[in-house]
Amino acid sequence: MTQVASNLQIDSARLWGTIHETAQFGATPKGGVRRLTLGAEDKQVRDWFRNACEAAGLEVHVDTLGSMFALRKGRDMSRPPVGLGSHLDTQPSGGKFDGVLGTLAALEVVRTLNDAGIETEIPICIVNWTNEEGSRFAPAMMASAAYVGDFTTEDILSRKDAEGVTVGEALDSIGYRGESPVGRQKFSSFIELHIEQGPILEAEGKTIGVVDSGQGVLWYDGKITGFESHAGSTPMPLRRDALATLSEIVLAMERIAIKHGPNAVGTIGEAVIAKPSRNVIPGEIAFTVDCRSADAAIMDALDRELREAIAGISARRKVDVTLDLVWRKPPTHFDSTLVDAVEQAARRLGFSHRRITSGAGHDACNLNTKIPAAMVFVPCKDGVSHNELEDATQADCTAGANVLMHTVLALAGVAS
Ligand code: GLV
Ligand code: MN
Ligand code: MN
Repeated sequence: MTQVASNLQIDSARLWGTIHETAQFGATPKGGVRRLTLGAEDKQVRDWFRNACEAAGLEVHVDTLGSMFALRKGRDMSRPPVGLGSHLDTQPSGGKFDGVLGTLAALEVVRTLNDAGIETEIPICIVNWTNEEGSRFAPAMMASAAYVGDFTTEDILSRKDAEGVTVGEALDSIGYRGESPVGRQKFSSFIELHIEQGPILEAEGKTIGVVDSGQGVLWYDGKITGFESHAGSTPMPLRRDALATLSEIVLAMERIAIKHGPNAVGTIGEAVIAKPSRNVIPGEIAFTVDCRSADAAIMDALDRELREAIAGISARRKVDVTLDLVWRKPPTHFDSTLVDAVEQAARRLGFSHRRITSGAGHDACNLNTKIPAAMVFVPCKDGVSHNELEDATQADCTAGANVLMHTVLALAGVAS
């Protein structure tokens, strides 16, 4: 690598500026962001991102699921690019960094290479994946899952949000149903920078997480059918209360996850009473379950024990409970050569670092099933994420972007 390339540093103020500039698209009062995938604010940030990439000389194309690809040519165009990026959608009450850091740091890497006049041997390509978050349409990370062939494009296009709007209709409404078939843009490897979204790096005073693995995920849709009746006149022993049933299921999930801990988590994040009324015993409830582990055997145990617990609770309470598995993502073991490349970049740049397992799901986990992938983590304040209060320091974001850039340079090579 040339001296210029090996000493290269991203422009910290410029990266920080873009993070705050784009945070205005869907800004919330507490300093967070609400930018649901394929909504009006997502269109705003996508348009901003497209313009910024084109101004940096990149060729932008969009696939039929709306994922955006911005290509920077390399000397050898016969080889697929090194991919880098993340997502720009957020949770309904999300922060400024989840996904945004990785996507805008990728843009910052390109701007830095442009300023330094560096041509890479292999091209590089920034990606903004559609619907990483999964809060409007399930599953999370659906575009990268379709990219690796876990779902067909047609299946994903037909998924509906809570209002019955399909992914296809939502793409059309913001003008982001692109022309490129899903999977046509090839990559030789993929690197994603992200905030940790957990407490480990901060607690240990480490700047960089070298992500070598990721938790597997189980998502379920559940439904409880009891019986609506009068809250005043129905004696307690005669009730078939859906909400009391859910309460037991929530506590069973918690108990099971704790039993398999620390390598297991379980959450019931949504629950909707069908016809809520103060003086009616709830008769019908829809709920969701999210449970995760980095160990495939523990994932099987979580599934089995949750089903057993629900069977016992529903029989005793004389209610019906259905539990449909809507998504199963096995644990991820990132490509060891790429993980080593991230570690070497962190070491060479002099940052404290440690190997780490991702608690959250990421598009890089999907990509790793087909191409070598890896991730770089930086700390976030108090480990808080999926919250408006999510925060990270400029110094840590800059460090992560520099590790991203030097990993990409090592993979893509510098044209001589
Ligand atoms: C993605 O944000 C996840 O749920 O891990
Ligand atoms: Mn994310
Ligand atoms: Mn997220």
